[in-house]
Amino acid sequence: MQTQSSASAHDRARIRFEEHRRAFLQNEPLRKLYAEWYGRIGQSLPPAGLGPVLELGSGPGLAADFLPDVMLTDVVRAPWHQLSVAAENLPFKDGAVGAVVLFDVLHHLPSPERFFREAMRALSPGGRVLICDPYISPLSYPVFGWLHEEGFDFSVDPFEPQWPEGKDPFSGNQAVATQLFFRKLAEFQRRFPGLQLLSRERFAGPSYPLAGGFGRKPFVPQTVWNTFKRVEGWLPPAAFAWAGFRTLVVLERL
Ligand SMILES: C[S@@+](CC[C@H](N)C(=O)[O-])C[C@H]1O[C@@H](n2cnc3c(N)ncnc32)[C@H](O)[C@@H]1O
Repeated sequence: MQTQSSASAHDRARIRFEEHRRAFLQNEPLRKLYAEWYGRIGQSLPPAGLGPVLELGSGPGLAADFLPDVMLTDVVRAPWHQLSVAAENLPFKDGAVGAVVLFDVLHHLPSPERFFREAMRALSPGGRVLICDPYISPLSYPVFGWLHEEGFDFSVDPFEPQWPEGKDPFSGNQAVATQLFFRKLAEFQRRFPGLQLLSRERFAGPSYPLAGGFGRKPFVPQTVWNTFKRVEGWLPPAAFAWAGFRTLVVLERL
């Protein structure tokens, strides 16, 4: 049951969904980035027929523009979501789900550990977890740490609950994916041997912060932004260990 404070946090979250959708429609660089990133997710989905593809934490529902068969869900209910779902408690039978997509959601979960246990239960063998989340590199460190409202904290153990129940659904620790899939990957694999790491890419350089995000307009004119984006396209993947702002992690249920 929602407490009064979590109910008002949910009301604020719903208002943010509307604001994010409006900002997204007005921001050409952001739309280009999301099209590319959801395109990567679309290419990494498992073969059809394993069960539904759920997006957890769909918020404004941007995934529907890029992944036609995805089921939109969120812990905060909105009219465009097909289901109201908390990531730690998926309303599906064992082995019934084909894939779960988390786009900017992992670092908001009260307990990533509980989510991964639930994903292990609900996914069909061959089903996948696809996570697109912030990556903390030397270049993104100051941007996510000082300029982004959520910030990050590497001193928090990512295998322990991050927040109390009923937290604001938008509070987060942006270090979680970097911790679980880069700095503490061996521990993740020890705890979740049934989730095989298929890939973990780092990508998206300064073109991402220059796009302004949902709270600001792009920081540079479109032509300058296009040049940044083109130059980033020439960089080898290894460059994004130093200059990346995002990671895409794909796990497969054995
Ligand atoms: C930063 S928003 C991302 C929204 C959307 N995926 C996007 O990228 O536009 C984080 C979302 O995670 C949702 N969320 C937070 N905690 C959650 C949980 N435990 N289970 C499911 N969704 C959750 C929030 O309600 C919010 O919609």
